Amino acid sequence: MKSLKGMHVLMGVTGGIAAYKSAELCRLLKKSGATVQIVMSEAACQFITPLTLEALSGRPVAVQMFGRTQGALEHIDMPTEADLMLIAPATADYLARCATGRASDLISSVTLAFAGPVIAAPAMNTNMYTNPATRRNLETLRHYHGWHFVEPTSGELACGTVGQGRMASPQDIMAEVLAFTHRDLAQKKIVITAGPTVEDIDPVRYISNRSSGKTGYALAKRAQLRGADVVLISGPVSLAPPSNCQIIHVRSALEMEAAVLAHCDDADAVVMCAAVADYRPASKADEKIKKPQLNQIQLVPNPDILAGLGEKYRNASTPKLIGFALETENLKQNATAKLQQKGADVIVSNLAADALEGDMTKVTIFESNGDFQETGIITKAELADLILNLI
Ligand SMILES: Cc1cc2nc3c(=O)[nH]c(=O)nc-3n(C[C@H](O)[C@H](O)[C@H](O)COP(=O)(O)O)c2cc1C
Repeated sequence: MKSLKGMHVLMGVTGGIAAYKSAELCRLLKKSGATVQIVMSEAACQFITPLTLEALSGRPVAVQMFGRTQGALEHIDMPTEADLMLIAPATADYLARCATGRASDLISSVTLAFAGPVIAAPAMNTNMYTNPATRRNLETLRHYHGWHFVEPTSGELACGTVGQGRMASPQDIMAEVLAFTHRDLAQKKIVITAGPTVEDIDPVRYISNRSSGKTGYALAKRAQLRGADVVLISGPVSLAPPSNCQIIHVRSALEMEAAVLAHCDDADAVVMCAAVADYRPASKADEKIKKPQLNQIQLVPNPDILAGLGEKYRNASTPKLIGFALETENLKQNATAKLQQKGADVIVSNLAADALEGDMTKVTIFESNGDFQETGIITKAELADLILNLI
């Protein structure tokens, strides 16, 4: 069981409705062994009292720049002592202050003076969240300051509108903090493919499949949180790319193969999660094909990218090759055969009958040494961690 034992977390609370959830988050941080110093914006005190957070953290809560809770230089001392800053909730205004380097109140001064990792959980009305100014501030913080965000979820917000902006649950924020602080994949480069490929027939038609890309994106997110250097090669999907990954958008199997080959030589692992189309039209017509000619399309097989890598790295110890297989029968027999045929180290296999829509999945993970584990029904994020544990 992961814990935060020995860690000192500087937890910031800013002025949004979700501030009430910070009490539970503080409790979870303490329970996992961290010491917690809370700093609140003045606006946050309108939503939850410092007394509540003081009782839960066991330390005086700092609010005012000139309030001297712990000494004259607390805006410098508090960040120096901390291993991690966690801001939950993070308001639009606080993010704007940080993106522009302001130090106009205690919480923004402390953030500016903090040199370690910052994890923030934004929470706000959907229009505020999607406003270009907020998007720009988030991008600035992500790219120039290396912040990590626990993305807000979608649902009904306190203001009555429905959309993205609701702060992630304290449990989900805690899971991200735990993953972030256990950077067991630091120094590892992991190439992950995700989503379907799209094989164009003519300017308006194509062959593809219904892969959502969710498992590959969950893998990229967890790998990045665990410290890996992630290259995510994605077919067309409607998912937001995880932060701090190198993302390469491709369309066809041939494009995906080229991108994989360009990035795998120095990789520690390649996880082939994408649902690559088996066939593509021999050529793409420049003009829309007339209906009577449609049944004459010539199909040619796409490359088996995983098998190609298996061949290329036959005698090498890296990259570790991990493939996925969907079967309708004989799971073990087929997966064992695929491990050999494709030269893979791991095959993650599931039965079509168990293929679950949405965020859940149920698979069996087969390794080339004969080991295997059946997962039962788990989230795709949990599956991602099981796979990454093998790297
Ligand atoms: C009832 C109420 C709820 C609010 N909820 C949010 C919110 O969820 N997210 C947000 O960014 N701002 C919210 N605001 C606006 C912030 O409180 C305001 O921008 C404030 O200046 C933020 O200060 P801070 O960033 O120092 O905490 C809310 C305001 C009110 C009155």
